[in-house]
Amino acid sequence: MCGIIGLVGSSDKFPLKPGIMVYRGLLRLEYRGYDSAGVGSVTSKGVQILKGKGSIRELEKKLCLSCIDGAIVIGHTRWATHGAPSDTNAHPHTDCNNKIAVVHNGIIQNYQELRDILIGKGHIFRSETDTEVVPHLIEEIYRRLGDFYESFKRAISMLKGSYAIVVITSYEPDKLFFAKKDSPLIIGLGDGFNLVASDIPAILEYTRYVITLRDNWIGYVSSNKILIEDLADSRVVEWKKLVRTVEWSIEDAVKGGYPHFMMKEIHEQPRALKETLYGVQRDPAIVKAVELLARADNVYITGAGTSYHACYYYSILSSILAKRLVYSFIASEYSVYASTADKPDVLIVVSQSGETMDALKALRAFKEKGVSIIAVSNVVDSAIPRESDLAVYTRAGPEIGVAATKTFTTQTLVLSWLSIALGQGTGALTKSEAEYYRGWLKKSAEIVAKTISWNEALAMELADWMRKKRSVYYLSRGIGVPIAMEGALKLKEIAYIHAEAYPAGESKHGPIALVEEDFPVIFIVPEHRELEKALLGNIQEMKARGASIIGVAAESTSLSNYFDYWFKIPSSHWILTSISHILPQQLLAYYTSVKRGFNPDRPRNLAKTVTVE
Ligand code: G6P
Repeated sequence: MCGIIGLVGSSDKFPLKPGIMVYRGLLRLEYRGYDSAGVGSVTSKGVQILKGKGSIRELEKKLCLSCIDGAIVIGHTRWATHGAPSDTNAHPHTDCNNKIAVVHNGIIQNYQELRDILIGKGHIFRSETDTEVVPHLIEEIYRRLGDFYESFKRAISMLKGSYAIVVITSYEPDKLFFAKKDSPLIIGLGDGFNLVASDIPAILEYTRYVITLRDNWIGYVSSNKILIEDLADSRVVEWKKLVRTVEWSIEDAVKGGYPHFMMKEIHEQPRALKETLYGVQRDPAIVKAVELLARADNVYITGAGTSYHACYYYSILSSILAKRLVYSFIASEYSVYASTADKPDVLIVVSQSGETMDALKALRAFKEKGVSIIAVSNVVDSAIPRESDLAVYTRAGPEIGVAATKTFTTQTLVLSWLSIALGQGTGALTKSEAEYYRGWLKKSAEIVAKTISWNEALAMELADWMRKKRSVYYLSRGIGVPIAMEGALKLKEIAYIHAEAYPAGESKHGPIALVEEDFPVIFIVPEHRELEKALLGNIQEMKARGASIIGVAAESTSLSNYFDYWFKIPSSHWILTSISHILPQQLLAYYTSVKRGFNPDRPRNLAKTVTVE
């Protein structure tokens, strides 16, 4: 996820200097990424670029981004996906002759293929990004056609993947060219100037009139003209009917209209899963990770908080799919496990931030023993991936809410993908079995979108009852246990209600003593016949003591008659349990927190990234 802004107009019409407008717009987009940034404009000598690694404010001090000159300016704030955060990987990217500058948000899947062809034709690449193919590709086509817009259109039609792209060029210095597919992009209409941006907050200071672009739309804006075409059928889009007035305040706009970042991030999960899937499908690190894991003596996996729950989930999947026992442990307990670890072992360290001190300490202790380390993180080039032998990334984009949501589902997606690859690599799964499981993972975004829409109203309603409770149990079996643990953590973290998770079979060995009339027990029921059967007895035990049963179960479940409330999950496959079954629990914790009068984004005593032991 990255943030884009572009501005074009007549010099006497801008409310502020264009450089300042773009700089302020970038600050509003910082929630989309903040590891590097840059701006570009068109001058008589070609395009001028100021960019580098660091936050927007740091770069302002160092390079004075807002000082950039010109009546056509673009800006970008980056969340690294291809290539670590660095001065050269920061956007905008340019062609060989410095005549074309591009900012991009999304992932170009076929970039390697295009890059190889362009290198073969003599193009010189300076960065490791997927984006840099775009200016070179346009340059290559423009050499033949001599018509910039036509070259831009042809280049865009050769891209596979997701993109919001904005381009400036000294060949046509009065136009901002744009294209959109799967990544957001809007046009803002000013008086004597126009803007293009990833999101409303970037432009709200300058205009309230916007057009939301649709997939496959392409075109350009100048100070007084807008052209939008549909790339699919070359139809010119009648944009005047599409202009709407934004009523939000800036504060609302940063949260995309949601009252809290946590809610926004819950709703971002379909996109985050899609992007993570794009990444993991073609990540060479997965192949290398499988090689390391296949020849390891012992495999360990560790993390803290939510990331630990993803670890535990992986350990179960690994035994089912790869027939491989994995030791999962809480990062701060590393010394117990590090003491027996040895050279042919592998440790997987899971951390969304890549900076958690407990996880970093575990990594270092194992590394000292000669153990190979695989990182799973959401932040490219953060400490944990940097100190690991290999890194696999989730592509959830920045998570602002302290309680992890989209980073958990994307972590478990990556880890599920890895266990399937390992199963196939070691022969525990046949190719067609592996394809079958991967097929379900590819449906994750769709299932999540449905799960949210089916369960939001019930979560809201149930929160009214839940907010008065002092204690809640979360029970499950097998693959559902870590998901119960994650659900309990969510409620504890943001609604401050005592919540405990147990393997359901254990509940009769103590926890049941607390159960009385109307005590809430949430059962996570994976879509798995054997587990369902085994859970039935536990549900009955709880019901017999007066507990109120909340089931999180597929629409096909045979247990629905036993539920007092039912969070219904679209029927899919048990391999999606971590992704589908956690959703209602995130929603329930969120609404309970809000109904109790708390701010779910800022839970007391907790921090997003804990860099102390
Ligand atoms: C803190 C956060 C949790 C998070 C944990 C691990 O405790 O409040 O939400 O799960 O750190 O963070 P990491 O960045 O390593 O995944």
